[in-house]
Amino acid sequence: MTSLAGLSILVVGASGGLGSAIARILAEEGALLTLHGRSEEKVRALDLPGTFVNSDLRDAGSDSELVNAALDAHGQLDGVINAAGVVAFGPVADVNDETMGTLFAVNTFGPMRLLRAARPALLESAAAKRDPFFLTLTGIVSESPTANMAAYSASKAALAAFGQAAGRELRRDGIRFVDARPGHTETGLATRPVAGTAPNMPTGFNPAEVARRIVDGIINGERDLPSGAFSPQPAA
Ligand SMILES: NC(=O)c1ccc[n+]([C@@H]2O[C@H](COP(=O)([O-])OP(=O)(O)OC[C@H]3O[C@@H](n4cnc5c(N)ncnc54)[C@H](OP(=O)(O)O)[C@@H]3O)[C@@H](O)[C@H]2O)c1
Repeated sequence: MTSLAGLSILVVGASGGLGSAIARILAEEGALLTLHGRSEEKVRALDLPGTFVNSDLRDAGSDSELVNAALDAHGQLDGVINAAGVVAFGPVADVNDETMGTLFAVNTFGPMRLLRAARPALLESAAAKRDPFFLTLTGIVSESPTANMAAYSASKAALAAFGQAAGRELRRDGIRFVDARPGHTETGLATRPVAGTAPNMPTGFNPAEVARRIVDGIINGERDLPSGAFSPQPAA
């Protein structure tokens, strides 16, 4: 793939720190965007070109809502970026069932269902030689599960394992599965946990630089973006 111009790309979590930074670069590259968030106001405030879709990944049916929004708007779907997710902190003894359920519903089952729903459209894109992709952002915790983030790490490691296996199947179909695993990035995610409180953390990566690296990986045909692919450039 050398250009994203004219490709239809669904950005799930476009209202978030990384999703919005990725969507901005995709728009500059000429992609046709379908932008997801749970608040239309928040997505419109980004002032990015694209169709808005509201969906909660915890809901059964969110997968087809998202895919259909992209197909209705652009008639094709060539790429999916899943940049939605939630975090929780705290020792295992304090992690309750509701927190575990939310982490797995949003971080794991939502993207798994989304891949299943997107596959037929991505197969059509592959048949048309548009080099389709499905990208997730599991993060460094799926390589190095982290104390006081055990349930979050597990939800991400489960998605990473799903992606590795699914990626082998999809490769035969001409669909590229990419798992991006940056370290801590200054999006404010850690200030919005569904449970617990974030520990003090060193300054993380700049979201715009992480987003640029991810979009470059897509354009360059990379099949994996491990933590080492993100150079240690702290936020300004
Ligand atoms: N920041 C980091 O340090 C870091 C590092 C590695 C990987 N990641 C991963 O990268 C992804 C993006 O993180 P971020 O830092 O950009 O976080 P963020 O700024 O908090 O954005 C999170 C996004 O997820 C959406 N979301 C949350 N709950 C949802 C639900 N139930 N249904 C649908 N969407 C939901 C949010 O939508 P609303 O705007 O409607 O809330 C928002 O768009 C996450 O999966 C995160 O785990 C982050």
